[in-house]
Amino acid sequence: MSSDNQVAIITGGGAGIGKACSIRFAEEGFRIVIGDLSEQDARSTCEMIRSNGGEAVYCIGDVSREQDCHALARKALDRWGRIDALVANAGARVGGSILEATEEDWDTILGVNLKGVTYSCKAVLPTMISQRSGAIVIISSANALVGRSGMPLYDATKAAVLSLARSLAVAHGEEGIRVNAICPGYTMTDFHERAAAKNGISPAELRRRNEGYGLLGKPGEPHQIASAVYFMASADASNITGQFLMVDGGMSVCSGAR
Ligand SMILES: NC(=O)c1ccc[n+]([C@@H]2O[C@H](COP(=O)([O-])OP(=O)(O)OC[C@H]3O[C@@H](n4cnc5c(N)ncnc54)[C@H](O)[C@@H]3O)[C@@H](O)[C@H]2O)c1
Repeated sequence: MSSDNQVAIITGGGAGIGKACSIRFAEEGFRIVIGDLSEQDARSTCEMIRSNGGEAVYCIGDVSREQDCHALARKALDRWGRIDALVANAGARVGGSILEATEEDWDTILGVNLKGVTYSCKAVLPTMISQRSGAIVIISSANALVGRSGMPLYDATKAAVLSLARSLAVAHGEEGIRVNAICPGYTMTDFHERAAAKNGISPAELRRRNEGYGLLGKPGEPHQIASAVYFMASADASNITGQFLMVDGGMSVCSGAR
């Protein structure tokens, strides 16, 4: 089946990796429903897609609220009557050690990165089950598997969604639904560029500071993650489910001694 006229929901689709996925899926013929907290980013990504001849709408909401995820699925169904792909991409970040983490920190990270991903999947599954087809791609992280200090709460949630991908793949394989995860390494997204800008660091300087990352010597770009996400959602991956794919420029196999 070609991607033409299929429908993809992309959470966090207004910026960063989600924006790159929205653009790539639209280029491949998908009609796009962007879910995002930021109306400005969601609107601007939709306008970009439409100006290139694609079809896109957005729905403002927070994936940590189950009803917002259902509203996103309803938007797709009201507009186009089907849901073929979900990219569960929206994510929160909380830094600091376990010793410093507050209950509020845990509620934030679990709410968005684990419950939010689960609610997003729950919202699209009844439609995919009735269609007897669908592809879900969850955005995890290379640090789901590679240990580091500084972000233990975030990394734990990213490991948890790999388990979720497997559980859903097992539960819904017979219904024709595939569930996989992509694990990006450090990727030059709006998140990093905006954080750097607050400290007066330009995107070019940020890239320079991250030279040497992984085996390929540089951080990833959002379109490179989007390529892997699109592959996992496409018919080219029709026999792949319950898996994860590292898209990290080899960071996870790098001993540090190159
Ligand atoms: N950038 C990286 O280096 C990197 C590495 C590994 C994994 N990831 C993961 O990739 C995903 C995207 O990250 P990014 O760097 O592109 O971030 P980003 O901040 O550039 O873009 C994220 C988008 O998601 C939206 N969003 C955030 N929380 C939301 C919520 N609760 N509900 C709905 N929308 C929400 C934001 O408004 C934004 O538009 C995240 O899950 C992140 O954990 C990123």
